[in-house]
Amino acid sequence: MKTNRRHFFKQVALGGLGAAGLSLGTSFHAEAAPKSKNNLLSVNNKRSAGFNMCGFAAPKLDTVRVGFVGVGSRGLGNMRQMTYLEGVQIKAICDITAFRIDEAQKCLADQKLPAAKVYTGKDDSWKALCEDPEIDLISIAVPRGPLHAAISIYAMKCGKHVAVEVPVIATLDEAWEVVETAEKTRRHCMMMENCCYDFFELLTLNMARQGFFGDIIHADAGYIHYQEIYNKPRDNNMWRLHESQIHTGNIYPTHGLGPVAQIMNINHGDRFSFLVSMSSNDFKLGDKVAELAQTDPFYKPYDTHTYRGNINTSIIRTVKGKTIMLQHDTTSPRIYTRLHVISGTLGCAQKYPEPGRIAIGHEWVNDTKLAELTEQYMPVIVKRIGEMAKQIGGHGGMDFLMTWRLIDCLRNGLPLDIDVYDSVSWSSIMPVSERSVRGGSIPVEIPDFTRGAWKTNPVHDISRMGENATTVRKI
Ligand SMILES: NC(=O)c1ccc[n+]([C@@H]2O[C@H](COP(=O)([O-])OP(=O)(O)OC[C@H]3O[C@@H](n4cnc5c(N)ncnc54)[C@H](O)[C@@H]3O)[C@@H](O)[C@H]2O)c1
Repeated sequence: MKTNRRHFFKQVALGGLGAAGLSLGTSFHAEAAPKSKNNLLSVNNKRSAGFNMCGFAAPKLDTVRVGFVGVGSRGLGNMRQMTYLEGVQIKAICDITAFRIDEAQKCLADQKLPAAKVYTGKDDSWKALCEDPEIDLISIAVPRGPLHAAISIYAMKCGKHVAVEVPVIATLDEAWEVVETAEKTRRHCMMMENCCYDFFELLTLNMARQGFFGDIIHADAGYIHYQEIYNKPRDNNMWRLHESQIHTGNIYPTHGLGPVAQIMNINHGDRFSFLVSMSSNDFKLGDKVAELAQTDPFYKPYDTHTYRGNINTSIIRTVKGKTIMLQHDTTSPRIYTRLHVISGTLGCAQKYPEPGRIAIGHEWVNDTKLAELTEQYMPVIVKRIGEMAKQIGGHGGMDFLMTWRLIDCLRNGLPLDIDVYDSVSWSSIMPVSERSVRGGSIPVEIPDFTRGAWKTNPVHDISRMGENATTVRKI
């Protein structure tokens, strides 16, 4: 076998799938080292190491001047969170949709803040925003796909730190470029995985770090959230439906995976090794879109019956022999869950149904004991900011906790909780699971974006706080 690409085509043939599917949103590293041990599809791990961004702390910024690219539903929410913080100036916004810009300016006016400079008019107006010398941090919330990585890379090259929505990359080529750009420019690229800041996830992270669960053996994670993605949004931009039309596998892995990756010290003592991924057929989207297309020509381009399977299940194995079962389902009417089951040698935790339970041995602890454990192990960030975060809100407070923490770290010159390697490796499950599914659920290697540094990279210390705590404005 001379190249991975050839190996992959062979695997695809064995899996009984046509090679036609390969053009749909996948990218390949034909130069990668051949490896076919245990039928594992290898991907390019041969990049040379650069400056290690784990633990990187940028010089303190007294005031963080922020520019927002994409102020739709999520971007506007992210901007609103920032309006509450002292030490933040919202300098500029960029969007291609006029009513989104109006809504963002109204939000600033409502919060008694000056209007932001506007960049609009072209699909790449974001470049001018990135070049604006009055901005330190670019917050990105445009539709998923190639724009997340493209804007992140351009922003870092312009000397800006980046806070980008999930997932940060859609292909492995993009992933490597994001990593290499962060290392060359020494700019932060933090994927804004808000679920890492939910209270039960933070509690279990701290418990795991204190050894409560013993050795972690396995975790269940997922994103199961019923959404009728064939309905037209206000701007008629059907990017969610289109994404499901052209991709398969787990297209949105990080909400469940981020918190368990932190608990398992992924990239900080262990790393993802490989996965196998399997999808159900599509029992819903194709038929629903065909029905809509019968009466509404708007849906004709979407009437292709090429939709991803409704439920995807991936199993990830780490180098140190731990496993993660990761699910994705947004199209069947199930109860919302991110699973978050942590299984260790001494105990376990399970978040859903909320508010979550902890077990020692094979018994759930009672409510009194749960309250005691919560008091004992809840990390200092929740004790300090948790009540304020609940009041300001954003998915129950986790969005504010994350935003506060990002700004506070930048203002105090602290490393961020989610570094560029975490951001891309959690996101890489999207293209890697797609390769596995298209190949007939073959095992596919997950690249080591740290290039060996995972063995010695310390974990990010969520209890390390800056000396000057960022406060909330009186509005
Ligand atoms: N972390 C979370 O909980 C969470 C929740 C929802 C969405 N998201 C992520 O946020 C991102 C945006 O999702 P959304 O629900 O806000 O989508 P949306 O469609 O409501 O908003 C996207 C915005 O980007 C703008 N846009 C599109 N192309 C652009 C371009 N070239 N330049 C500038 N602006 C452009 C659109 O006009 C729109 O205002 C997605 O990546 C999604 O995965 C994260």
